[in-house]
Amino acid sequence: GFSFLTKMASFTPLSNQRSSLKHLFFLPLSEKKKKNGPKSLRDLRAERQAQAERSVLVSCHPKTHENKFLKYLSRHGNVNKCFFYESFGTYAVVEFSNQDGVQSLLESAAMPSVSHESVVPLRSRLLSLRNVNTVDTDKQSAPSANHRELTCPLTVFLLTQLEQQIVSLTEAHSLTDENTRLRFLVCSLLNDIAAAYFPQSSIKPFGSSVNGFGKLGCDLDMILDLDGTSEGNANMPRSGMYMEYLVKRTSSERAVTQSVLSVIAGCLDQFGPGCVGVQKILNARCPLVRFAHQPSGFQCDLTASNRVAMRSTELLYLFGELDARVRPLVFTVRCWARAHGVTSPIPGAWITNFSLTIMVLFFLQRRNPPILPTLDRLKELAEPSEKCVLDGNDCTFTSDFHRISLETNTETLDQLLGDFFEFYSTFIFNRMSINLGRYGKEHKPELHPLYIQNPFETSLNISKNVNSSQLERFVTLCQESAWLLQSGSHLNTLLLPSHISVVRGRKKRKSQPASERIKGLLESLRIKNNQDTNDIDFH
Ligand code: GTP
Ligand code: MG
Repeated sequence: GFSFLTKMASFTPLSNQRSSLKHLFFLPLSEKKKKNGPKSLRDLRAERQAQAERSVLVSCHPKTHENKFLKYLSRHGNVNKCFFYESFGTYAVVEFSNQDGVQSLLESAAMPSVSHESVVPLRSRLLSLRNVNTVDTDKQSAPSANHRELTCPLTVFLLTQLEQQIVSLTEAHSLTDENTRLRFLVCSLLNDIAAAYFPQSSIKPFGSSVNGFGKLGCDLDMILDLDGTSEGNANMPRSGMYMEYLVKRTSSERAVTQSVLSVIAGCLDQFGPGCVGVQKILNARCPLVRFAHQPSGFQCDLTASNRVAMRSTELLYLFGELDARVRPLVFTVRCWARAHGVTSPIPGAWITNFSLTIMVLFFLQRRNPPILPTLDRLKELAEPSEKCVLDGNDCTFTSDFHRISLETNTETLDQLLGDFFEFYSTFIFNRMSINLGRYGKEHKPELHPLYIQNPFETSLNISKNVNSSQLERFVTLCQESAWLLQSGSHLNTLLLPSHISVVRGRKKRKSQPASERIKGLLESLRIKNNQDTNDIDFH
């Protein structure tokens, strides 16, 4: 797919951004905290955003000579990081050690002179590398050896074969450091356009780009925050004179969002370098602008004033950080669901990835002892300063890992995956709801086949689009998958639709790409694992 990043070369050793799952898996949480942090999402964002702001994106010739390019860049400033990737051509992400480097590079850049066309003279940090001499085709261009080290080497000792496969699948699929940098850079580039109208604005990624459950190729969800953090009137004095901005008023926040997004969509469409296929979807419950950002290959959704979604992102991130088994399990279930058409990129009566993730988290809250705490518990642990009410919804919970203590649960990923399928094979969907808030059987307040309570807007069902035949299919697939795992099947059996009769029995599926992709992935894992360990056989 066009949104998969192919890495070509990188001159800096890759940071250990992707910590070895396995390594983490066997460290008690307290050890993990001492070693790696866990960083709060807020800190992580700030760091990524700062990197993005001193970076540029450069379209290059595929045979660009890396060292000469770096030498050229270093005339403008010290380069912290530079890597190449392909997406409708070759691009380089260049991060300078400070913004002066970016400024100097931009000042040196020329407007293209074209004879039969005209250009929109918008100067952005999306550049194109030109060479006055003939194209440099000498040697080089083979990917540097250090680039393969993206995933940490896997050792086989402690994990069972199935666990090993789950971990490999997760490592092969999750967002890399480079991909994440590029996501923040795209937000920062787009914000330069919004900032022409709203100098205080910032565009921030949310959803799976930052919640820890992102897969290579997932869309880029962004929120446009127009006025800093919308944190209200820091400047208002208790008494005396003060200035207020004279502003235009409209009937509702929704109307403001719609008109701002409409203008931004127009700008992106007409001036935004690399933005194509811009669609305004302004009448949706959550108005948005959808487009493809061609240089990055990302499918983008830009929303505004969607603060609750930012909070859900933070909650999912927190859950993913609390226990090292959460992410591999969510990944595997998502891959499984995609392979069997339980989820789909096309909107419809399917379960969404967001719903599915909540189903996994809910299941993990119900282990004995629980692997994850409830949202109510996280709320109780919050300090007064963490109180957060958005649009009338209580979105309070603690983000402080040190305040959350968990009971020891030593279940393996094998067990958990099998039990996940069991759990939902027998879940009483017609009477019960799925609710991250608290323990205790929650009765369904309404009749939709699947009821998953929105964590923060608790009167809403996030899965009311799911019809009963989709839910039945999900349950049957869970039953069959539980059975396959009990009879010792490998992960590939579980991920290939042909092995499961609920799919086999149906008409031939029209679209094969997902299963083909996963087959390809398994194939590559098999090769990788054989290289690494010689003793894993996926077939
Ligand atoms: P991907 O499938 O990898 O894109 O996962 P995602 O988590 O990014 O999902 P998606 O792009 O569909 O939505 C982005 C974010 O919007 C989610 O992470 C949620 O925070 C929020 N969101 C998505 N669907 C719903 C919904 O039905 N209700 C509510 N309240 N929020 C949603
Ligand atoms: Mg998304």
